[in-house]
Amino acid sequence: MNERARAAYAARRAEFARHAKGPVRVHAGFPAARNLPSLHHPYRASSHFLHFVGMGVPGAVLEFEGDRATLYRPESDATAQLFHGPDEPAEELGGRLGLTVRPRAEWAGGPVALELPRAVEAPVGPGDEGLLEELVRQRIHHDAHALAALRRAAQDTVAVHRLALRITRPGMSARALRAAVQAAFEARGAALAYPPICTPHGDVLHAGDVALPLTHDSMVLLDAGCESPEGYAADVTRSFPASGRFCEAGRALVEVVLAAQQRVIDAVRPGVRTLALQWLAHDALAEGLVALGVLQGDPAERARDGSTALFFPHGVSHLLGLDVHDVEDLGDRAGYAPGRHRDPRPELRYLRVDRDLVPGMALTVEPGVYFAPARIDDQATRRAFRGRVDFASVDRLRDLRGVRIEDDVVVGVADEPAEVLTERAPKEPASIEREVGLGADLDAWLARA
Ligand code: GLY
Ligand code: MN
Ligand code: MN
Repeated sequence: MNERARAAYAARRAEFARHAKGPVRVHAGFPAARNLPSLHHPYRASSHFLHFVGMGVPGAVLEFEGDRATLYRPESDATAQLFHGPDEPAEELGGRLGLTVRPRAEWAGGPVALELPRAVEAPVGPGDEGLLEELVRQRIHHDAHALAALRRAAQDTVAVHRLALRITRPGMSARALRAAVQAAFEARGAALAYPPICTPHGDVLHAGDVALPLTHDSMVLLDAGCESPEGYAADVTRSFPASGRFCEAGRALVEVVLAAQQRVIDAVRPGVRTLALQWLAHDALAEGLVALGVLQGDPAERARDGSTALFFPHGVSHLLGLDVHDVEDLGDRAGYAPGRHRDPRPELRYLRVDRDLVPGMALTVEPGVYFAPARIDDQATRRAFRGRVDFASVDRLRDLRGVRIEDDVVVGVADEPAEVLTERAPKEPASIEREVGLGADLDAWLARA
């Protein structure tokens, strides 16, 4: 951590401390043991802790007391050192972090009621809301340090997506491609920001390990992103044919989703309400789906009567930061501005962010079209949407399964266009066709990693 980074974290702590009415503790969290204390799942500190400290320190507590912040850290005994290596000396760690580091055994602990997010303890009483609001404000309005870290995560993620396009070929399994993506991140020292989704069945929104083969006809959906060393996330999806050549229907569908994504990206400006972005995505998808013959009638009506929601059931955006769905451990408290609540209409129900954009906010833009059998084969649904959805067209396109295109953007200042952090990952059909199956010299790639 360099001097500028130390200053950035110190500034966050100082601003936060001004809102605290009593001692506040932010817990890093302990490594989760698999089934015995010396065997852990990969460790990831709480994002609230990372926000104030800049790196994970297993089992540590950051205690704010007045304008002082002290890091209490467990000291490893001989057994722990045998399994996990020695502790960094407290003075060295403290020097790197710009914090006083004390043994956790010296920490007074004691009863401080727990009301804020699980990782943060503070006294309960008047004034705590202000503390929570300050935490949310800091987490979602990124400072220059956070923006640089988001760019770094985006850059590593783009490199791995390019590699994935190049090594894809029909005959390989989705599992093998996913494994290569995971290995590529790991080789760069970049932790995964979430379990990658890699599947020819893109209609399964959060598919895990998929053993299906990628065939000449497969539309691959790859949703993968890593963290920067400080823990900031990238979240990128690309949809591309395993063969490297789009079929007519696949190209047309990707063009529809791309057009919707561009409309939304172009609309990202300070002051714009994310709810309006969601409607924009529905409007654009409705126009594209009417042109494709999937929807019938007036696109503006189809975008409001549940027709587009049948094929695009999720939000077009979510906040991005130290978590891929940033600050969602607070439910909607961060994503929804005070006084705003989820709207139960099918177009809005899964929207995770309803805020007015401000410069420096980071979010995804990720429209998609999915032909999920559980939805499109439901007979009651087919009856209900008769005259609005052409199910013969749906049946012609259904083998494409799902297309999503997702980039990460940062809201610019005033009339500036949004910064698209991940735009160098190919997404246009022509650029995808140039890269899929090109092959990669893995030795050279790993040497660069
Ligand atoms: N990668 C999960 C999402 O796009 O929301
Ligand atoms: Mn996302
Ligand atoms: Mn994603």
